[in-house]
Amino acid sequence: MRTQVGIVGAGPAGLMLSHMLHLEGIDSVIIERAGKEHVQARLRAGVLEQGTFEMMKELGLGERLAQRGLEQHALDFRFGGESHRLDFHQASGGRSAWVYPQHDVVTDLMNARTRAGGRMFFEAPVTRLEGVRDGRPVIHFEHEGKAQRLECDFIAGCDGFRGVCRDAIPADVIKVYDRVYPFGWLGMLADAPAPTSEITWGCHEDGFAMLSIRSPTVTRLYLQCEPDENPDNWSDDRIWSELHKRLDVPGMPPVNEGRITQKAVTAMRSFLAEPMQYGQLFLAGDAAHIVPPTGAKGLNSAMADVKVLGLAFVEHYKRGSGTWLARYSDTCLKRMWLVQRFSAGLCTMVHQFPGNSDFVRRLQRADLEYMTGTVPGRLQFAENFTGLPIGA
Ligand code: FAD
Ligand code: DHB
Repeated sequence: MRTQVGIVGAGPAGLMLSHMLHLEGIDSVIIERAGKEHVQARLRAGVLEQGTFEMMKELGLGERLAQRGLEQHALDFRFGGESHRLDFHQASGGRSAWVYPQHDVVTDLMNARTRAGGRMFFEAPVTRLEGVRDGRPVIHFEHEGKAQRLECDFIAGCDGFRGVCRDAIPADVIKVYDRVYPFGWLGMLADAPAPTSEITWGCHEDGFAMLSIRSPTVTRLYLQCEPDENPDNWSDDRIWSELHKRLDVPGMPPVNEGRITQKAVTAMRSFLAEPMQYGQLFLAGDAAHIVPPTGAKGLNSAMADVKVLGLAFVEHYKRGSGTWLARYSDTCLKRMWLVQRFSAGLCTMVHQFPGNSDFVRRLQRADLEYMTGTVPGRLQFAENFTGLPIGA
C-alpha cells in the first residue's frame, strides 16, 4: 500500500490533518490502534480556542459546532469566598472560547473523512517506522491478524503521548522536558444544569475545583485529587460536598447536584520533545507535547500543530517548496513554549501543592488577584485562553 502522507493515530490531530490534506487533493492514510467506537467515545477536553473554532468553520466542519457549541465570554474565578469574573472577551477585544467537547470534534472529523471515502484502518496498531531518515519511510502495522506495510513520502506521528513515533527519533537528537505534578483531577459528568452559563474555577485552600458545561443539562466537574487516586474512594456525597465547599460563594447560585454518570482520574504533566521533526517524520499534538489540563490547551495545541503541518505539506506538494516543512518544528515550538508557560503557570497558581508554605499560598492569592483584578493581568489571561496566533 502507498500514500503521500501516512498518519499514525486517529485522534483530533491525525483526523484533522487527513481532512485538511484531502481538501487540498493530497492523499493520506490513517492507521489507528484502537477501535472506531472507542476513539469516538473517549471523554476528554471541552474548550475550543477562537482559532480552533475558526479553523473548523473554514474547513467545512462548522455545522454541528454552530448548533451545539456554547460561546464563552468570561470565566468566574472563585477565591477568598468571592466571585472574580474575568471577561476575556472584553479584555481581548472581542475574542471568545467555545465549549464543544473533544468527542464531538472527533465525530465531526470522522464523519467528514468517511463521507470523503478517506482510507482509515482501525484496530491496527503501528509496530514500528522504517526509513524515516533516508527518505523512503514505511509504517509497519498489524491488521486483522496480518503484518501490513504502508509506504509514504512522509509520516505524521499523531499517535499521542504513548505512541511509537516519538521513539523513532534517535536519543542523541531528541531532547525531552518533563514535569510531573503531585496531583491529578477527578473528572465527572453529571446530569445537572450548570448554575450559570460560565465556566467556574474554585481556587480553594483545600484544592482546586472546576465546573464546566457540556450541554444545557449536563455539567463537567473536576476536583483536585491524588495523582493515583482510586475514583471509588469518592462517593457521590463526598464529591458534592467538596464541590460545594470549593466552588460556592455567597451571592452566586450554588453548584446543582445530579446523577453522576462518569468518574475518572487524569494525572498531570508538562512535557515537550524537541525537535518535533526528524527526516521525513513530523510529530503533532500529544505525541510531541503534553500540558496540564488547567488552561484547556491540549486539543487546541494539537490543532495548531496540524494547521502548520498541513500548510507546509501544501507548500511542498503544490508549490514544490520545502521551506515550511523544514521550519515546522521551530514554528510550532516557538508557540508551544508560550502555551507551556501559560498552562504550567495557571496550574501552579490554582492548585494546592503538598507542603506549600503560607508564604507560597499568599503569593498564589496575589497572582490570582493580579490576573483577575488588573488590566494587564486580564489581558494576558485573555490572549492566552482564547489562543495565541498560529505562525506558519
Ligand atoms: P490523542 O487524542 O491521544 O490521539 C492519538 C491516537 O493515536 C489515539 O487514538 C491512539 O489510540 C493512537 N495511537 C497510539 N499509539 C498508536 C499506535 N502504536 N498505532 C496506532 N495508533 C496509535 N485537554 C484539554 O485541553 N482539556 C481537558 O480537559 C483534557 N482532558 C484530558 C483527559 C484525558 C484522560 C487525556 C488522556 C487527555 C486530556 N486532554 C485534555 C488532552 C487532550 O485530550 C489531548 O491533548 C488531545 O487528545 C490530543 O490529540 P492528539 O490527536 O494529539 O492525541
Ligand atoms: C475544561 C474547561 C476548562 O476551562 C479547562 O481549563 C479545562 C477543561 C472542560 O470543559 O473540560
